[in-house]
Amino acid sequence: MANNAMAGLDRILTMELVRVTERAAVAAARLRGRGDEMAADQVAVDAMRSELNRLPIRGTVVIGEGERDEAPMLYIGEVVGSGDGPAVDIALDPLEGTTICAKNLPNSLAVIAIAEKGSLLYAPDVYMDKIAIGPGYPAGLINLEASPAENIAALAKAKGVPVGEIAACILDRPRHAKLIEAVRATGAAIRLIGDGDVAGVIHTTDPDETGIDIYLGTGGAPEGVLAAAALRCIGGQMQGRLLLDSDEKIARAATMGITDPNKIYRADEMARGDVLFAATGVTDGNMLAGVKFNRDSIETHTLVLRSSSRTVREIKARHQDLDKF
Ligand code: FBP
Repeated sequence: MANNAMAGLDRILTMELVRVTERAAVAAARLRGRGDEMAADQVAVDAMRSELNRLPIRGTVVIGEGERDEAPMLYIGEVVGSGDGPAVDIALDPLEGTTICAKNLPNSLAVIAIAEKGSLLYAPDVYMDKIAIGPGYPAGLINLEASPAENIAALAKAKGVPVGEIAACILDRPRHAKLIEAVRATGAAIRLIGDGDVAGVIHTTDPDETGIDIYLGTGGAPEGVLAAAALRCIGGQMQGRLLLDSDEKIARAATMGITDPNKIYRADEMARGDVLFAATGVTDGNMLAGVKFNRDSIETHTLVLRSSSRTVREIKARHQDLDKF
């Protein structure tokens, strides 16, 4: 790790982060399939917050439950951690895919990223245009300003497969009708997802496992920063552009330090420096299993990533001290 405020601590924090997302995921998983998004989100927030406050950090939530979810805790600006240790930025989503969890569909996650103070993009809770691919391709292969057909053709060529063997992941939204039409016209396949584009972006990093080569479309900007943090650690390419389509949004972004409303951010501009990332499956998904409740134990499956070493760890845990949960 570089010579910075987190130096030495990041290895320890990596494992501590697993506990944070595990707790949030277990809490939310108890409410899977109950049709109550708010309740599932709230228990995940509460669990994540109490675990975060045990970490030896002076953390500030910079991407949090924000304005949109109007959750009472883990809002942008909230200070978390034990108060000892390095000052860090925290991006979190205790329950990414609240609707997925409420309906017990695949790929809802408990997610967190930590970076040195001032290293994460302070994105307002607006939409972001996103494009992402996994590692192993030449830099600059994809471009948010190119057409979907151009991006898919470039990807297919670099992968050495016909366009028909490329699969794109897109959020199933009316706003994506033209995008979906354009991608289908290329002959590429589309996996339409109901929610959860942090998982959608991460899935591009392992196409053999997930069947997804490229993520395209517009989703939440906070989720964009979280996904960028993950790609910084695993590898891959991502670009994002905030959708600041009103004077009010432009002014709000300016108060967060965003002076160019049309800027296209690369992953390493959304999550700079040394980054830690963890995600625990709440419901079963393409990369992570959901929480499993057994008679005498609880099983969790977590992806934990560290940018400085590019280590990708999968932690399958069996928790037997059920009083903790
Ligand atoms: P929540 O966890 O807040 O429900 O967000 C789920 C999500 O699908 C994100 O993954 C995505 O970025 C965003 O919502 C898309 O927003 P919208 O539902 O407004 O299209």
